[in-house]
Amino acid sequence: MACHFRRAIAGLISKAARVPEEKIAPWVQVTNPKISSAGEFLLPIKPFIDCGVLPPDSAKGGNTQDSLANLTNKISCQYPVVKAVSNKNGIQFSVDRALLIKNVLTKVQEDREQYGRHSDLFVERKGEKVIVEYSSPNIAKPFHAGHLRSTIIGNFIAKLHHALGNKVVRINYLGDWGVQFGLLAVGFQLFGSEEALQRNPIQHLFEVYVKVNQAAEENEDVHRQAREVFRLLEHGDQTALSLWTRFRDLSVEEYSRIYKRLGVQFDEYSGESMYSDRSQQVISQLQEAGLLQTTERGTGVVDLSEDNSMSFYTTVTRSDGTSLYVTRDIAAAVDRYERCRFDKMYYVVDKSQEDHFSQLFKTLKKMGHTWADKCQHVKFGRVQGMKTRRGEVVLLEDILNEAQRQMLDNMQQAATTKYMDNPEEVAETVGITAVLAQDFRGKIQSDYKFDWNRALQSKGDTGVFLQYTHARLCSLERESGMSVPDSCDPALLQERQALQLLLQIAGFDQAVHKALTDLEPRHILSYTLQLSHLVAAAHRSLKVKGSPKYVAEVSPSAFVQFSPCDISQWDGSPLYDTCGQDVMLANEKALLCMTPLDRM
Ligand code: ARG
Repeated sequence: MACHFRRAIAGLISKAARVPEEKIAPWVQVTNPKISSAGEFLLPIKPFIDCGVLPPDSAKGGNTQDSLANLTNKISCQYPVVKAVSNKNGIQFSVDRALLIKNVLTKVQEDREQYGRHSDLFVERKGEKVIVEYSSPNIAKPFHAGHLRSTIIGNFIAKLHHALGNKVVRINYLGDWGVQFGLLAVGFQLFGSEEALQRNPIQHLFEVYVKVNQAAEENEDVHRQAREVFRLLEHGDQTALSLWTRFRDLSVEEYSRIYKRLGVQFDEYSGESMYSDRSQQVISQLQEAGLLQTTERGTGVVDLSEDNSMSFYTTVTRSDGTSLYVTRDIAAAVDRYERCRFDKMYYVVDKSQEDHFSQLFKTLKKMGHTWADKCQHVKFGRVQGMKTRRGEVVLLEDILNEAQRQMLDNMQQAATTKYMDNPEEVAETVGITAVLAQDFRGKIQSDYKFDWNRALQSKGDTGVFLQYTHARLCSLERESGMSVPDSCDPALLQERQALQLLLQIAGFDQAVHKALTDLEPRHILSYTLQLSHLVAAAHRSLKVKGSPKYVAEVSPSAFVQFSPCDISQWDGSPLYDTCGQDVMLANEKALLCMTPLDRM
C-alpha cells in the first residue's frame, strides 16, 4: 500500500514547512489515475491552510501559486521521493515507480482480503465499539423502500467497521409493540389461518392486519377489543403474550431467512417490546430529576428549549400515563449504553425522523447522559417509485424476487443463458447487486427515483457491470493464477493502463477512509466502478497472449491481484456478500455468457 510513501512525503513537507508530520500525512493522496499524470502523489492545498502555512483565502486564488512554488522549492527530495512540482491542485510528487509497483503488488498478495484494512489513515478509529441499528421494520406493516435503504446502508456501515477490526453490534429495533398487536390478535381470530401463518408469516400477518383495519373502520367494537387485548398484553396476560410471541418469533425467523439473501444479519432483534416496562422507569427518572411537566391535556413533556420557554419539547407520556415511541427509544439507548459502553451508536433511519432523533439525543443529555454525543442519526433520503409486479412494495421478499425475475428476463434474451447450470442463482446475485449499486450511487441524503431498467443495464455504472468485471477477472485468475513470481520485474509495467490501474489499487485505503469519515457508500461504489473501467481498459490493451513470458507474467498479475472480486469478498464490502466460491464461479460463467466480450 501507499502508507510508506505517504509518510515519506509528509516528512519532507514537515521539514520544509515546519509543520507536524502527522498533520500532513493523512492528506497525502495517491493521484487520481484518471485525472493527472504529473506524479503519483498529491498533497492538496487545504492542509497548508489548516496548518497556517498558507492564508485562508488561498483556495480561491490570490498568490497561492507563488507561495506553493516557494514552498516546493524548499523541499529537498529524498529517496523514494524523486520530484516535487506545484500546480493548481497542490504539490505533486513523483516517487520511484518500480518500488511503488513492487510494494503495491506485494502488499496485495500478502494481505489478500485484508488489503486496505490496515492503513495509517484510520488507525485512530481502530478498536472502537460500535452499535449499528438498522432495518427495523414494523411487524404486520409494509416493509417500504425506506426500510430497504436502512437495511443496506446500515449493513454497509456495520461491515465497514467490522472490516477495520472494530467490535460491531448489529441491532434490529423491530416495531414489535403497540396497539397494532391488539388489532392483529383480534384480526387473527376473524381472518387468520394457522396454515398460512406457518407457511408465510410476514405476508399473512400483513393481510390480516389490512383486513382487521378495514373491519375496525366499520365497527368501533373491533377497536375496543383490540385496545383491550393490548391492555392485557401490557399487563403480561399469558394468552395475549403467547400469541404475540408466536407472531413475533415466526416473523423474526422469516426475516432472518430473507435478510440472508441480501447478505445481511443481526446480532440482536431487540425491538420496542423490550422497552415497554423500562420506559416506565424512564418516566420516573424524568420526574425525579424535575424534568417532567404535565400539560393541560394531561400529557407528560420534557422542555428542550434553551430558555425554558417550551418552544421546543418532546412528549414522553400520553394522558393515561402510557409511554410513547420516544420514551421507548430513551430506555433502549440507556440499556444499550449500559450493556455495551459503545464509542459510537448509529441509528440508520430515514430523514423524516430527524426531529425524533434530535429530541431523543437532547432528552438523553438533559438526563445527564453525556454519552448522547456518541449517538448519531444516519439519515437518508426517499426512494420514489419502487414498484414490483405485485404493485407498491409491501414485503422485502417482493423486492428481492423482482430483482431476480427482471434479471432473469434480461438474461433470457442472451442465447447463451441456456448453457448455464443455475441461471436463477446467478440472476439473484446480479439482480441484488444492481439494486445496491443503484442505491449507493448518490449521497445517502438525496432522494432518488428507483428505476429497474437503469439498474439492470449491463453497461455503464451499474451493478451488472461490476459483476461482469468480477467474472472476467475470476476467469483470468483461473487461467493465470494469482501469484507474482519473485523474478518479476516491476519496471516492465510501463503501459499507461497498467500504471493507472496500479495507482487505483494503491489508493484503495483512501476510498475506505472517505467512506468511514462521511458514512457514504458511494465512495466505495465509485472506487469500484473506476477500478472496473480501468480493468476494462487494461484488458483491451495489455496483451498476455503472444507476449514474451517475462512480460505476460507481470501484466495479468497487476490486475488480477486486486479486483472487484476481492472487494466483494472483503467483508467490508457493501456490494456483494461472500456467497461462497460456487456462486462466484457461477456468476462469472453466467456473465461471460451473457455479455459477450466484444460488446464491452
Ligand atoms: N420501526 C421504525 C419505523 O419503521 C423505525 C425505527 C427506527 N429506530 C429507532 N430507534 N427509533 O419507522
